[in-house]
Amino acid sequence: MLPASLKSDFPILGETVNGRPLVYLDNAATSQKPRAVLDASRHYYEALNSNIHRGTHFLARAATVAHEAARETIASHIHANSPDEVIFTSGATDGVNLVSDILPLSVGDEILISTLEHHSNIVPWQMLAERSGAKMVMIPCDENGVLDQSAFANLLSDKTKVLALTWVSNAFGTVNPVREMTAAAKKHGATVLIDAAQAIPHMAIDVRELGADFLVFSGHKVYAPTGIGVLWGRLDLLKSLPPWKGGGEMIKQVTFEGTTYNDPPFKYEAGTPNIEGAIALAAALDYVNAIGLDAIHDHERKLIAAAAEALSEIPGIRLYGPPDRIGALSFAIEGVHHYDLGTLIDQMGVAVRTGHHCCQPLMARFGITGTTRASFALYNTMEDIEALTTAVKKAATMLS
Ligand code: ALA
Repeated sequence: MLPASLKSDFPILGETVNGRPLVYLDNAATSQKPRAVLDASRHYYEALNSNIHRGTHFLARAATVAHEAARETIASHIHANSPDEVIFTSGATDGVNLVSDILPLSVGDEILISTLEHHSNIVPWQMLAERSGAKMVMIPCDENGVLDQSAFANLLSDKTKVLALTWVSNAFGTVNPVREMTAAAKKHGATVLIDAAQAIPHMAIDVRELGADFLVFSGHKVYAPTGIGVLWGRLDLLKSLPPWKGGGEMIKQVTFEGTTYNDPPFKYEAGTPNIEGAIALAAALDYVNAIGLDAIHDHERKLIAAAAEALSEIPGIRLYGPPDRIGALSFAIEGVHHYDLGTLIDQMGVAVRTGHHCCQPLMARFGITGTTRASFALYNTMEDIEALTTAVKKAATMLS
């Protein structure tokens, strides 16, 4: 297990809630920020703040160097072939919208997604389907929230133009076999986008080994600020696909007669970017790598397994997702509304998320309106699990 002293790297975790120490188990919604990230943000505004790629003065050069160094850190973290494959976005949602806006689909084409998807990996594709006449096709899941691989194999065809798939379910913690599913979709010539928003804090990512065309994630799930994210794309695709938003930075030459476009990544980075966010994201990844993703993965697996075991003793409880879930543990107690449960355990200092987790189609598949979800980060401890299970047991008794 990781040392409990890691908590002291995160100033907010010293807060109290209703007179009790904060137990923060809503990490799938957003993670807390270590001092190293807060310092990087502050240092940027205190020592470097300037617009990038535009000025020749000292600060403009220094900010540009720091921003591009951040891109290199991120490229190396996900094993991209080149920093040019790393496009800064405002988050995973922005990345999916970018890709779904530039892919040329038409009537008869199919977009394959899974029942486990977050709304951000559903709605942009529905909008593309509406615009293009393409059809949405869904991969079903079983009672454990595991995708049905034989149904997936049957749904694939040469009509499949896109496979958009989450690596880890934000609602149930299911880890999809993304490499195998990507390989199967590529055999049919589909473009594959992987939503790694819930994978990035918990596991090592190697985009070269993955074999997909695009991968998106948000910085704030991996200890960085909100408003910064990454779209990784294969360089040949980024070069050949049309631009997205128009504006400064994404151009080579503008005349009133027409415009020529910049090379990736700048082709997809119109306007002044979130410079501080990119630098802070690199600091967050440096922080994570100093601890080690294998150690984080192992620590969080032990926490989630302990939480699942302790909670399963509660009469009438149902745990969602497979036993090898990571990141998130969703549950419901018969006769108890998830909102009431979440509210009561918040009063005991335990922060979890309740509701549909931006996965209404998944909730509909299980005939529920929502769950209570505890989600884990590197700073959580076995004491946090004890606090969670004690609070849930107490609340369940009060509410049933
Ligand atoms: N996607 C975030 C969550 O799962 C907001 O809570």
